[in-house]
Amino acid sequence: MNILELLKKDQDQQMPEEYKQLSVEEMENRVKEIKERMGTSLFIPGHHYQKDEVVQFSDSTGDSLQLAQVSAQNKDAKYIVFCGVHFMAETADILTSDEQVVILPDMRAGCSMADMANMDQTEQCWEVLMETFGDTILPLTYVNSTAAIKAFVGKNGGATVTSSNAQEMVKWAFTQKERILFLPDQHLGRNTAYDIGIPLDQMAVWNPISNKFEYEGDLNDVKVILWKGHCSVHENFTVANIKEVRETKPDMKIIVHPECSREVVALSDDNGSTKYIIDTINNAPAGSKWAIGTEMNLVKRIIDQHPDKEIISLNQNMCPCLTMNRIDLPHLLWTLESLEQGKVVNQISVEEEIARDAVLALERMLQR
Ligand code: 13P
Ligand code: SF4
Repeated sequence: MNILELLKKDQDQQMPEEYKQLSVEEMENRVKEIKERMGTSLFIPGHHYQKDEVVQFSDSTGDSLQLAQVSAQNKDAKYIVFCGVHFMAETADILTSDEQVVILPDMRAGCSMADMANMDQTEQCWEVLMETFGDTILPLTYVNSTAAIKAFVGKNGGATVTSSNAQEMVKWAFTQKERILFLPDQHLGRNTAYDIGIPLDQMAVWNPISNKFEYEGDLNDVKVILWKGHCSVHENFTVANIKEVRETKPDMKIIVHPECSREVVALSDDNGSTKYIIDTINNAPAGSKWAIGTEMNLVKRIIDQHPDKEIISLNQNMCPCLTMNRIDLPHLLWTLESLEQGKVVNQISVEEEIARDAVLALERMLQR
């Protein structure tokens, strides 16, 4: 493809300005009509962190694990318009048939955590790990990672994990090998390993920028190697936020996502995946009081759905996940109207060789 064709292709992937001028009502009506016309040939999964304007049109709403499961199960839809972030759409593409087309309404909807581990860094890390520990390590990757990292993990006998099944998967990993490499979220890795009884001094951090371990003790004692990555949303919940809630609202319970730091999780009353947080609040008695440490679009929705409970965000200055927020009503409408005009925009297509190895890692998780 020459440069002019490339520029033209890039323009085709950009939403035309006119969509920004439409009223919400107009856009909602047009999306509704297209959904009716397309019927089961269209499937719209929506992550819990998406905006309400998008979630209202989701055929299935869930966390990363649930959306991977429903995408894998859907055999009818020709088009899967994924309202979430890039790694989720890649996962859907890997788990669906070659005939099914996966679309991400805005290609800028990435994930800063997934971007914290690339293949060069991972291969360099693996080389050092093999030299240091020999063949004693199983790699596990949070689904919040690129398809290439999932493929690397699949090729090396490992599996993907989500926040909903991290404990089960880490326990499984230790039935396979003596040690694990957990990437790319150090916090989920640390919190999960700690919860199953691994002491913090048996966890080393691998810094992919300096290409070095961050560990004071004897490396022979290490059971878990944590990739030094994090979620830029969940890292914004701090010990100071917890102290403030404890001081100002002492009867309030604090529940956080395990992508928060160890210190924050340790000082909270409860922690768990997105689904766990939703279920806990759903099952809590009327009148109960909660400070929630997770993504803001979801916290706002939980607050709206529970007028009988007092609920706040653990961090009062918290913003939604910026990349999740890239998916909005204009982009959803534009992708759907393009489909009706016979044009597929923003298709997510994972290379065959990568998909073949990545599916091994995903299936080891989904089969459990
Ligand atoms: P879960 O959907 O697995 O809870 O992950 C949270 C998240 O940060 C998604 O990007
Ligand atoms: Fe990535 Fe965190 Fe946003 Fe999830 S909430 S998409 S992990 S940056």
